[in-house]
Amino acid sequence: MTDLALLGGQPAFPEGLPFFRPATPPLERVTARLAPSYERGVLTNGPLVRELEAAAAERLGVPEVVAVASCTAGLMLVFQALARPGTAVVMPSFTFSATAHAARWAGAVPRFAECDAASCQLDVADAAIRLEGASVLVGTHVFGAPCAPEEVEKVGRAAGLAVVFDAAHGFGATRAGRPVGSFGDAEVFSLSPTKPMTAGEGGLVAVRDPELAARIRLGVDYGNPGDYDTRFAGLNARMSELHAAVALESLAELDEHLAIRRRLAARYQEALAAVPGVRPQAVDPGDASTWKDFTVIVDEEAYGLDRDTVAAALKAEGVDTRPYFHPPVHRQRAYADLGTPPLPVTDWVSDRVVSLPLWRDMPPAAVDRVVELLARLHERADAVRAAVGTTAGVRS
Ligand SMILES: Cc1ncc(COP(=O)(O)O)c(C=O)c1O
Repeated sequence: MTDLALLGGQPAFPEGLPFFRPATPPLERVTARLAPSYERGVLTNGPLVRELEAAAAERLGVPEVVAVASCTAGLMLVFQALARPGTAVVMPSFTFSATAHAARWAGAVPRFAECDAASCQLDVADAAIRLEGASVLVGTHVFGAPCAPEEVEKVGRAAGLAVVFDAAHGFGATRAGRPVGSFGDAEVFSLSPTKPMTAGEGGLVAVRDPELAARIRLGVDYGNPGDYDTRFAGLNARMSELHAAVALESLAELDEHLAIRRRLAARYQEALAAVPGVRPQAVDPGDASTWKDFTVIVDEEAYGLDRDTVAAALKAEGVDTRPYFHPPVHRQRAYADLGTPPLPVTDWVSDRVVSLPLWRDMPPAAVDRVVELLARLHERADAVRAAVGTTAGVRS
């Protein structure tokens, strides 16, 4: 191996190694599937959307799935239905901002709880002591790994709350064999381009109670049951037939796609075991993650470098990474007004996470090369630290 790029060597990936590439199903299959709706002039909320909802419900083992325009819109409608106005919706801060935005749009107040330092998932015991005056408890299946949903459900139910999961990353994940999507009052998936199952843009709301499903269905269409006498302030959150055609084809190849992601993640895990101070997100044995992201925690003491230096050094090699989720939601300016008390574990995790490239068509050899780079960075940590100290603008 030549020297590290940061130390004057050639970049390991001169063409660049992207963080992700969307797993687009073959265009000719999408257009063939779309054609009947398109040629009849049915562009939205038609037979393909119904077919997608039925296929998703069958796969998840739930009575109803409602297709929506995005996971954010799905969460907004679910919180509007379940959160009493002005009450707290308790959720992890270590999640994507949309979880909190949706609660706020629905007239509720996000209240943030800690995450677990190994799994990065909601710390259920910590959430349990923050439930006073709340109406909903939310778990996020972080990076596509199940967040012990039965435990979240138990704590939420015991306090008399509705239980919702932000399953944006989780379509295809299982918890001890049971599909993510079948827990709580509602689970909401994203089908945006970064997700293993994609529609381009879109979401799915999996619901067990038919009344809640009917309410979400109404909310997707302005709250208008068809007589233009709207029953509440709904949205236009309909899914188009075009998006449903992409999603159906994406679903058709999902298992094959997830098998590839799981092999790449296992390859990362195995190789990283030899690199001190770089620890992949812990996933409970018996659970299957979608590995929407493969995220590691960089422990500066054991590794020799902090997360930002690792990201900068990988960037110099052509490797694109993301600090998911940093900053955590309680530290974002949008929620400064809440004055959230300190969440030290969340801050600790958020300061140390870096998500590494993982996508369907990524060559397995690229995983090996990224891990080799991480090992080399650890070996040359002193030199890298010195170089970063003298290289203006490397640490941004
Ligand atoms: C955890 C989480 N929740 C919600 C969303 C929002 O999904 P969408 O872009 O479909 O609205 C995302 C987006 O990536 C996410 O990561």
